Order: sequence, then C-alpha cells, then structure tokens
Amino acid sequence: MKQAVLTKAETIEFSEIEKPVIKADEVLVKVKNIGICGSDIHAYYGQHPFMSFPIRLGHEMSGEVVETGADVKGISKGELVTMMPQEFCRECEPCKAGRYNICNTLNVIGCQTPGAACEYFNVPAALIKKIPEGMSAELAATVEPGAVGVHAVRRCGSVEGKNVVVMGAGTIGNVTAQAAMADGAKSVLITDLSENRLETARKCGIPHTANTGKITMKEAVLEAFGAEGPDIFFECVGIGATVNQAIECSKKGNDIVVVGVFGKNPEVNLSWVQDRELRICGSLMYVEKDFQDTIDYIASGKIKMEPLISKVFSFDEYPEAYKYIEQNKDTSLKILIEM
Ligand SMILES: NC(=O)c1ccc[n+]([C@@H]2O[C@H](COP(=O)([O-])OP(=O)(O)OC[C@H]3O[C@@H](n4cnc5c(N)ncnc54)[C@H](O)[C@@H]3O)[C@@H](O)[C@H]2O)c1
Ligand SMILES: [Zn+2]
Ligand SMILES: [Zn+2]
Repeated sequence: MKQAVLTKAETIEFSEIEKPVIKADEVLVKVKNIGICGSDIHAYYGQHPFMSFPIRLGHEMSGEVVETGADVKGISKGELVTMMPQEFCRECEPCKAGRYNICNTLNVIGCQTPGAACEYFNVPAALIKKIPEGMSAELAATVEPGAVGVHAVRRCGSVEGKNVVVMGAGTIGNVTAQAAMADGAKSVLITDLSENRLETARKCGIPHTANTGKITMKEAVLEAFGAEGPDIFFECVGIGATVNQAIECSKKGNDIVVVGVFGKNPEVNLSWVQDRELRICGSLMYVEKDFQDTIDYIASGKIKMEPLISKVFSFDEYPEAYKYIEQNKDTSLKILIEM
C-alpha cells in the first residue's frame, strides 16, 4: 500500500509498504479522508517541539472498516468511522482520574506514532468511533478538531447561560465558539484580525464577530453584551496579546481558558489575575464524551463544519496541499486529503 512520510522539513515522500496485519484488538480501516491541522504544519516546517522526523502524519481521519480483529466486538466491516488519536497508559494519576488526555506518557497518533497518511490503517478498536448514517467521510474527518472546542468549553464548568468570548477565529476558535453555542451559552463573541475568518464564523452562525485590529476588545465586548459584560474568555491564538486582552476585559472572579499553543512564553498581567481573583485554566485535546458529543453535534447540524472545509486535495497532491496552505494562509481553514 501507499504511504506518505514527512522525511525532513518541507519534504513528503511517498513509498510502498506492506498492508498492516491487524492484532486481535485492532481494526483495519481503509482511509477516506485526513485533515491537515496547525500542528501538522508546524511539523512540516520542522518547528514542532514534540515531533521529530521521519513521521507519517495524520491524526484527523475518517475511513471504512475493512477488517476486524478476533477480539473486536460491536464494529463491523463497511462502517464509516473516525479515531480518537490518543495512546495513553491507563495507570498514571491523570489516567486513573479519567483525564487520559493529559496522561503522563501520552502519545498522539500521527504526532509521536505513525498516523493515517496511508491507504490502510490499523487502529486499536478502543479508539474507534462510529459515524452515524448521513454524515459524510469529509465531515467525519473534522470531528477531531471539533472535539478540541467541545472539551475547551467544559474546562471551567458549563458555559450554559454565559456570555462567551473566543479570541481567534481559526479552526480551533471557530469550533470553540460553535461548541459554546451548542452547550447552551447565552451568547458568543468571536474576535480575529482576519475578515475572512470572521466571515466564516458568521456563516457558522456565531452571533457576534469583531475585528480587534479595528476596534478594541473593550469596545467589542460592550457592543456584543452591553452592560451584562462577558462571563468567560477562550484564548485560541497562542499569543500574549490576547491573554492580556482577556485579563483586562474579564469581570472580577471570572475564568479564562487557554486553548492556544504558545510558541513563546508571553509576558502576561498576573497582577490583575491575582487582584481580581481570575482563574486561568489550560485545555488539551478531549476525552471520549467530548468526542462523542462532537459527532452528535456535527450530525445534528449544531456544529457546522462545512464552512470550514476550504479545499480537498487528492492523496497524490498531499505535498501540494502544504504549499497551498502556505500561499493561502488567510483564506484557507481546514484542508482535507481524499485517499
Ligand atoms: N488545546 C488543544 O488541544 C489544541 C489543539 C489544536 C490546536 N491548538 C492550538 O490552538 C491555536 C489555534 O489553532 P488554529 O488551528 O485555529 O490556528 P489558526 O492559526 O488557524 O488560527 C489562529 C487565528 O488567530 C488569529 N489571530 C492572530 N493574532 C490575533 C490577535 N491578536 N487577535 C485575534 N486573533 C488573532 C489569526 O488571524 C487566526 O485566524 C493554535 O495555537 C493551535 O496550536 C490547541
Ligand atoms: Zn489536529
Ligand atoms: Zn496515563
């Protein structure tokens, strides 16, 4: 079968390897779509702190089950599935507490172990999630980034009835804003510097959008929520400027959830965090309930992923997809590969 391996920075090489032989607890999936995400792009340029060459990428995927191992129950040939790409130990303190997304020895499939950029992929059955009828393989490949948003909005209790601010309208900010709406937020404001990304957010039904390159966060929040003000902020960019916007515009005693990954350690206004009893809390990936709820939200249309899919490339064009993203940063959101 054919696979694509990132052998060094900006170099994806195709090769022929044996089709995998599955273990008793695994299923073999004929891959249909994979998604390219921000971490793949960092890896592509050799700038990911926790990924090294060579690596077969692909942690966002969908495909059809073509074989099931002897011990696998409840999964059948022909079913459309996606996977939760987390390999965890089940024994460490976070794992025992059900927080295996922060397992002490977490490996992400497609980041630290070979991913789905291949024709046939063997996956432990425990990581497989079935896709309901009527949902396309393309949408199935977008569940993984969607689940990042669903997990984030549950990190500080429920967002139900709250006025939510999401900073950054890339894929992750967009899905975080949609997840907040789906989980019952009273209203949501999303901010970005890119009009294209804000336009996509509007297409997804996010009620308030603001370009914080043109107006201040204070003005944006006032316009969106009036005297009520914002109740919780989600940082989905990964820079100090937006963390500080959140700190400076939070009401006393409120929460700020950090979803963005920081390339540099920012200088942030911790004196206000202390004085106003703000809480800053991180968010990483998701657990099974978040993932399953994301599938249900996408299937029911509560989270709309179609407006985020900018372009679909064939497997042969996989290297070109990375070039396309480089040249169309502002107008492209989720890029998919079709096998
Ligand atoms: N926590 C997790 O589990 C998890 C998972 C995946 C990605 N991430 C991280 O989430 C972040 C967002 O990911 P993405 O794929 O959406 O990235 P992205 O680059 O597509 O989106 C970031 C957005 O922020 C906007 N932006 C830049 N500066 C801004 C500013 N000053 N104010 C407002 N907006 C600004 C950009 O225009 C862009 O639209 C990244 O840091 C990524 O690494 C986290
Ligand atoms: Zn991803
Ligand atoms: Zn563990």
